[in-house]
Amino acid sequence: MLKITNLHVKINKKILLENINLELKPKDLNVIIGPNGAGKSTLLKAIAKIIQIYKGEISFKEIDFTTASINSISKYIAYMAQFNQNSNLTTVDVLQISRRKYSGFSLKEYDHDMIKNTIKEFNLQNFLNRNIDTLSGGERQKIFLAAAILQEPKILLLDEPISHLDPKNQIEMLELIRKKTKENNFITITVLHDLQNALHYADKIVMLKNKEILYFENSLNITEKMISKLFDTTCKLFWQEGHPFLFLGHSHNNNIHNHSHKKENHDT
Ligand SMILES: Nc1ncnc2c1ncn2[C@@H]1O[C@H](COP(=O)(O)OP(=O)(O)O)[C@@H](O)[C@H]1O
Ligand SMILES: [Mg+2]
Repeated sequence: MLKITNLHVKINKKILLENINLELKPKDLNVIIGPNGAGKSTLLKAIAKIIQIYKGEISFKEIDFTTASINSISKYIAYMAQFNQNSNLTTVDVLQISRRKYSGFSLKEYDHDMIKNTIKEFNLQNFLNRNIDTLSGGERQKIFLAAAILQEPKILLLDEPISHLDPKNQIEMLELIRKKTKENNFITITVLHDLQNALHYADKIVMLKNKEILYFENSLNITEKMISKLFDTTCKLFWQEGHPFLFLGHSHNNNIHNHSHKKENHDT
């Protein structure tokens, strides 16, 4: 269990997170949704100890992350940042580095097998020896996601991991994230902007607005009202055969539909 109690984050006298309380379980895929600037990335960074906590507590099992050193918690956590830095590494380098916290500089056969399987699962065969700076944003995202999962963390933190991927790759990566979370008992927390995918793949949804948690709910319990309140816009949500369909800001009175209708008439 990852337990976050009364967490506050403050940087340069500015409050970025206020009174965050969460209890997160292994095997659960938790998805954070919320407007730009709500504090989603800040929450992941606070858990990963990349930024300092102002008040409150984060603990995992009996370990108090608040007082533990970064080194001592790093073996529990894998973190994929929203914006990855440039580097001179190849795909293979990035994957190998992610196994070093277990095996040091000389990777074992087991590590190499894991890397091989990951290359297959994530479909990275075509750019193994390419410098990652020369890859597309989507290709790079797949590599960093693969690298985070290869670390076999207890807590997997992913900040908008699929924002540069095409729709098919997005779904493949979400399927993989979900599968690995269940197989490896990860506590996974990921920020996503695609609400339909968020509802479909998440076990739990964390709604973050203006530094605070608005709702923390099973994805099946999310209502139109909650989403409207989160984004200050109207929302239509319905489920069909286990798939959520979600439209923001649409109403039957606006003329998007009429426009396309008119166009059709013109063409004929
Ligand atoms: N180091 C920082 N110093 C000052 N303000 C920051 C810092 N990091 C983030 N912020 C601000 O905190 C708010 C939340 O940021 P962030 O967590 O990145 O939002 P998002 O929900 O979009 O991921 C934003 O208004 C951002 O400008
Ligand atoms: Mg962010």
